[in-house]
Amino acid sequence: MEANMPKRKEPGRSLRIKVISMGNAEVGKSCIIKRYCEKRFVSKYLATIGIDYGVTKVHVRDREIKVNIFDMAGHPFFYEVRNEFYKDTQGVILVYDVGQKDSFDALDAWLAEMKQELGPHGNMENIIFVVCANKIDCTKHRCVDESEGRLWAESKGFLYFETSAQTGEGINEMFQTFYISIVDLCENGGKRPTTNSSASFTKEQADAIRRIRNSKDSWDMLGVKPGASRKSSSSTELMYLLHLESFSCYLQILKGTLSAEDQG
Ligand code: GTP
Ligand code: MG
Repeated sequence: MEANMPKRKEPGRSLRIKVISMGNAEVGKSCIIKRYCEKRFVSKYLATIGIDYGVTKVHVRDREIKVNIFDMAGHPFFYEVRNEFYKDTQGVILVYDVGQKDSFDALDAWLAEMKQELGPHGNMENIIFVVCANKIDCTKHRCVDESEGRLWAESKGFLYFETSAQTGEGINEMFQTFYISIVDLCENGGKRPTTNSSASFTKEQADAIRRIRNSKDSWDMLGVKPGASRKSSSSTELMYLLHLESFSCYLQILKGTLSAEDQG
């Protein structure tokens, strides 16, 4: 049996799963969980001390799901406490604050911490991750846009949702999709359903798209010297140019530079 497989009381009917939250301190992990479970929002910051634990029941299709939620403290000070809780997890809620670039940049470090704690035999492939780009209500302070967050998440085969624990936007949709994906995973013998990966990018594709999104002009976007043409290019450059030219329309759409008329 897969190490991540949850315990079943009645095979095929009720299911018990473990879910954890991860992400920097103050990004809104506890508030997201509170919004979904208690339908309320607390604006005062009450840092989680170590771990908060809760149990909730949800229904997915005809199944009753008992969810054990371990809400982790994001502060580095609590590393020793939370490192005990990564094992036997079926779902991870990975949160960043769209107004705090550091919290977005830290997502890789959170995955690395989990990987390290699971050890060489731990399998992160069979866990459902949902990325929450939280605090979307704070539009004035937003510095991580949707495409950047979505690209990071989808390049890893993770779900992605824009959320606000304050207004409730995206919260129910996020949890519903998250739980459905976990049930699908359990019904698929503990393996991530392959249908999820259709929207995913490989690491190379994601790196290329990131480079393109950050490029300063069309030459930079194509990865060639300014002024390069089919005639003036070396054979290697020419191959690269021709190869990239065929994608340039798609890339410009990605960069958001094509107007609706241009596309027509
Ligand atoms: P730790 O427990 O320290 O790891 O933090 P946390 O990630 O659990 O953050 P918490 O949920 O306690 O929220 C931190 C602060 O952000 C609080 O003051 C919340 O009220 C606020 N907050 C959380 N979510 C949102 C949101 O969607 N919008 C706004 N405007 N504020 C939010
Ligand atoms: Mg908390």
